Amino acid sequence: MESEEYYRKKERAALLVSLIMASISLVSLLVAFSYYCYIRNKVSKRSNLQQRLDNDDISGLSNSTLEVACEKGLQVFTFKQLNSATSGFSKSNVIGQGAFGSVYRGVLNDGRKVAIKLMDHAGKHGEEEFKMEVELLSRLRSPYLLGLVGHCSDSNHKLLVYEFMANGGLQEHLYPARGSNAFPSKLDWETRLKIALDAAKGLEYLHEHVSPPVIHRDFKSSNILLDKNFHAKVSDFGLAKLGPEKAGGHVSTRVLGTQGYVAPEYALTGHLTTKSDVYSYGVVLLELLTGRVPVDLKRPQGEGVLVSWALPKLTDRERVVQIMDPALEGQYSMKEAIQVAAIAAMCVQPEADYRPLMADVVQSLVPLVKLQRSTSKVGGCSSFHAPKSPTATNNVIKCSDTLLTES
Ligand SMILES: Nc1ncnc2c1ncn2[C@@H]1O[C@H](COP(=O)(O)OP(=O)(O)O)[C@@H](O)[C@H]1O
Ligand SMILES: [Mg+2]
Repeated sequence: MESEEYYRKKERAALLVSLIMASISLVSLLVAFSYYCYIRNKVSKRSNLQQRLDNDDISGLSNSTLEVACEKGLQVFTFKQLNSATSGFSKSNVIGQGAFGSVYRGVLNDGRKVAIKLMDHAGKHGEEEFKMEVELLSRLRSPYLLGLVGHCSDSNHKLLVYEFMANGGLQEHLYPARGSNAFPSKLDWETRLKIALDAAKGLEYLHEHVSPPVIHRDFKSSNILLDKNFHAKVSDFGLAKLGPEKAGGHVSTRVLGTQGYVAPEYALTGHLTTKSDVYSYGVVLLELLTGRVPVDLKRPQGEGVLVSWALPKLTDRERVVQIMDPALEGQYSMKEAIQVAAIAAMCVQPEADYRPLMADVVQSLVPLVKLQRSTSKVGGCSSFHAPKSPTATNNVIKCSDTLLTES
């Protein structure tokens, strides 16, 4: 009896020991499994990070703390990146001041030179302009439009990063006395013609090569930028509007733009068409011809508004000489000057329908730029007869006795 009791006790003890052993093994297994999961997780995080760093290296921006993402082919920068690209937005890197804010010279990690615009006033309009600039420039591609490299947009900062244009804005060359004097030399006639043609091609692309057409709405000399070889590109699409699909149509919108460049019918009615840009282009042609700003109220009476002063003289050979920029010192072909004056006259017609298409303007300027090498640069005299009434025919702007066609 006693021995039976003894064996039962021994059995219970053995069961208890086995249970304890089993529990210990289970706990050990659980601990081992958790540790395995923890290590696995760590390894996978590390390899993800490495992959991201590798990708950054490929995009040329290897700083591991920087997030560089690609949206629609544009780079998205952090403020920190752009801060370091401009040495902390130092004053010595300021290259311009515009309506949007200051423009800085910058160098990206991959050595690329860029121009960085820092928006210094937010507000609804600033935000809208920022959005429009990014939206449009991410879709449009032309050698005659300024390239947008990327942007930075967080709750506190809005910045745009552009390709760097070594020779700055056209207006700085036409009016060096007014600007920073960074570019003291004046533009010669040949360069002015090339700039006129490049800018015309930029607008032609916007009006005729994209659908729906894009109306720039703020075309002016400070929005024509020049690279190191004086190739010109059109910039600043913040005020741009998509035009009507239907030929001859218009969009109604609040009147925006820059004084002296806004087409009269748009200023009066708010009806915007691609012909509003053609008017602004005509004003820029007048700046290139005369070296005068569009509005200068310090000038004698009758000369303050460039278009009103120049228009009656543009189609009169004798008087074209009178309006030419004295800085050219007569170093231009009179024949070419008369041709350009005729084109300008067409573009600034008060009646929008009489203005040419940008494609017509391009076609008319192409031969002038092509003829450059063979034209003698004698100023002031020519056997050419002045145009009486320029007309747009067969897509080529015609003067009375010279038809400009592509050779
Ligand atoms: N991409 C660029 N490369 C070089 N200089 C630039 C660039 N963008 C702007 N700038 C300079 O900054 C100035 C101001 O530009 P912006 O802000 O566009 O002025 P605005 O409002 O008058 O058009 C320009 O006139 C030009 O000198
Ligand atoms: Mg500008």
